[in-house]
Amino acid sequence: MAIARCKFVIVLVALGWMATAATSRSVRDGVFTKAQVTRGQTVYNEECGKCHGQNLGGGESSPALVGAEFMAKWQGKSVNSLYEVTRTTMPADDPGHLSRRQVADLMAYILSANELPAGDKDLESSADALNDIRMEAKK
Ligand code: HEC
Repeated sequence: MAIARCKFVIVLVALGWMATAATSRSVRDGVFTKAQVTRGQTVYNEECGKCHGQNLGGGESSPALVGAEFMAKWQGKSVNSLYEVTRTTMPADDPGHLSRRQVADLMAYILSANELPAGDKDLESSADALNDIRMEAKK
């Protein structure tokens, strides 16, 4: 009986380890570059600022894309989930026309505005890569 319980615990620990390993990177790990943030800012100012505010603080009927409330909403989800919402529903007045790379640049800009660090590699735009990175508020 004791042995069976012990095996059960080992399996649980192994499963927990596998689940963490599958999404081992988070947005705290420097997953975008500064150059990408600059490109994202240009797209943002042209396509998004009129609704979400020039400083991402939100507008009359558009939510803020910066701050604790925004990050709490996405906490633990993959960057891909935020990416897909943006790619398929934004800009709200003309959705779906941005390229995958433009949306990746926008993610970099939004993450940077939420005080997450830049690194030395661009954020990729493939769903596989984006699914492997978790959303997490700054430390
Ligand atoms: C015409 C106004 C408008 C424009 C332009 C616009 N948005 Fe939005 N956006 C909204 C509204 C309104 C919502 C809330 C939609 C909802 O909750 O169903 C929203 C929601 C979002 C969300 C989800 C926020 C959350 O926490 O759930 C993201 C991310 C987002 N927009 C990003 C962008 C980006 C990036 C752009 C530029 C490419 C953009 N939006 C352009 C109006 C706009």
